[in-house]
Amino acid sequence: MLLQLENIHKGFGNPADQTYRKVLDDLSLQVSEGERIAILGPSGSGKTTLLNLIGALDHPDAGSVVFRGENITSLSRKEMDNFRNQRIGFVFQFHHLLPQCTVMENVLIPTLMIRDRAARNEKLEWAEHLLNRVGIWDHRDKLPGKLSGGECQRAAVVRAMINRPSLLLADEPTGALDRDNVKKMSDLLIDLNKNDGLTLLVVTHSQDLAGQMGQTYEIREGKITRN
Ligand SMILES: Nc1ncnc2c1ncn2[C@@H]1O[C@H](COP(=O)(O)OP(=O)(O)OP(=O)(O)O)[C@@H](O)[C@H]1O
Ligand SMILES: [Mg+2]
Repeated sequence: MLLQLENIHKGFGNPADQTYRKVLDDLSLQVSEGERIAILGPSGSGKTTLLNLIGALDHPDAGSVVFRGENITSLSRKEMDNFRNQRIGFVFQFHHLLPQCTVMENVLIPTLMIRDRAARNEKLEWAEHLLNRVGIWDHRDKLPGKLSGGECQRAAVVRAMINRPSLLLADEPTGALDRDNVKKMSDLLIDLNKNDGLTLLVVTHSQDLAGQMGQTYEIREGKITRN
């Protein structure tokens, strides 16, 4: 088992007054190695909240997130950062590329703390390979502002893949894309899943993308159910 979420509770605000909002309510989920999962659910249902817990960007109020047998909810802040950097790739809805950095610089950001020269060179080669594979090699020296939405999203996927994560968490990776680019993005994700063994957890409103995943889940009223 790659990932096990057990009895997760998560809310925001002060539990003592009416600012409190319970978002995830005793949610449990199991993900096997190599699965392709789409997560659906209305706006505000807790999809991003769930990805943030899995990606160790946030702590649950109760319950555990176990990644390959390791309980990541008990890690320190620094251990959480290392875990995320090495095991998880994140693709955000609006790609979050740094506007003042070129595509290549953006892609290499997660590798900046690597000091070993050989390891850095290996990352550079992997970046070159991935940029070619997603068809934006020619754009490597451009700023994100000069690229289309689809090209930026592909750059964001390359950045997420740079440290060869086991799990890719993608939060509406096709939110800003037209149908053609949705198809390209879903082909890319499926290729990474089939050829690199990458497990996919993708939040999406796109029927086209969800249809390419092996399994669909829906979050509603704090629970997750398999469709
Ligand atoms: N840091 C936070 N502080 C307070 N409330 C939050 C915080 N993060 C999320 N929430 C609330 O938790 C609920 C779930 O938010 P979340 O972002 O997980 O929804 P979502 O399913 O991703 O929605 P969308 O489809 O619009 O992106 C919302 O009501 C939101 O306002
Ligand atoms: Mg969201």
